[in-house]
Amino acid sequence: MSLLEVQNLVVEFPGRRGTLRALDDVSFSIAPGEILGVVGESGAGKSLTGASIIGLLEPPGRVASGRILLEGQRIDNLPHEQMRHIRGRRIGAIFQDPLTSLNPLYTVGQQLVETIRTHLPVNAAEARQRAVQLLKDTGIPAAEQRVDHYPHQFSGGMRQRVVIALALAAEPQLIVADEPTTALDVSIQAQIIQLLKHICTTRGAAVMLITHDMGVIAETCDRVAVMYAGRVAEIGPVHEVINHPAHPYTAGLMASIPDMEHDRERLNQIDGAMPRLTAIPEGCAFNPRCPRAFARCRVARPDLMPAGPTQAACWLHAEVAA
Ligand SMILES: Nc1ncnc2c1ncn2[C@@H]1O[C@H](COP(=O)(O)OP(=O)(O)OP(=O)(O)O)[C@@H](O)[C@H]1O
Ligand code: SF4
Ligand SMILES: [Mg+2]
Repeated sequence: MSLLEVQNLVVEFPGRRGTLRALDDVSFSIAPGEILGVVGESGAGKSLTGASIIGLLEPPGRVASGRILLEGQRIDNLPHEQMRHIRGRRIGAIFQDPLTSLNPLYTVGQQLVETIRTHLPVNAAEARQRAVQLLKDTGIPAAEQRVDHYPHQFSGGMRQRVVIALALAAEPQLIVADEPTTALDVSIQAQIIQLLKHICTTRGAAVMLITHDMGVIAETCDRVAVMYAGRVAEIGPVHEVINHPAHPYTAGLMASIPDMEHDRERLNQIDGAMPRLTAIPEGCAFNPRCPRAFARCRVARPDLMPAGPTQAACWLHAEVAA
């Protein structure tokens, strides 16, 4: 069974000039222990998808329809308090800026102990022991001393390790990590991603890893979902999606990755820009930029359909034109 099921998720922002539909019929699942990457251009809907799962959509944004299930239990319509409990205990979150997850007024040990004791049946001494162990597991040197330090006493990279420890403190089944290394020094980004992968794999926690970085996806993930204009354009096993993209948008994204072994001709960006939410074209949202668009693409919107080993929302994979 899937650990997480996102089914036909629609997220809207009601406004004075009408309602903006930011996520439009997003569906995917994550298996226990699996690492799912989510990529796509800025504004594609990656963060909104993550925020919907952890129950932190900011009003007036709201889930207008669809469902989110954790081990078969609906979590998109829970009362605030219940969702808060699930968020600590069963789903952990890691954001771009470690400081948004840490309280500057408390030591990291106090924050870890509080999370541990809120969710797990252990006493204060055991909780502190666990806190120190978590810091060790996330590669913080001198964890016995560091546990009593405040967030500002850590470097950016060390702070993000603390956030990873905090996200894992209650032994959640799923971690939602939204660009967890973007705010960090380039030289330590790979280390933090490797740590995240290692520590989640050893604990059997699944990860939804949102990133712009296709290289990170290739090295880290089991499957990848490519998002475009609030929808999933393609989803499948990471090596299939990278090596044999079925959706022309994915193909364009892959072509835009700098490839050291070949000459620079591969460095061609996809022409044009992703449409604003107020101006999503009819039919396939990618059609104005798509080198392979044909008549049907301008009038009918494709849903995900089987495309070899992956699934793609593209009419090129429709069995027989209707
Ligand atoms: N509060 C809001 N009101 C109106 N529209 C919003 C709001 N928050 C997000 N959006 C819109 O929803 C869309 C998706 O946003 P989201 O933050 O999920 O993108 P993203 O894929 O995470 O992009 P990035 O890579 O830049 O982080 C964007 O077009 C954005 O303009
Ligand atoms: S449906 Fe048409 S426009 Fe959209 S990606 Fe496929 S070929 Fe291109
Ligand atoms: Mg984002």
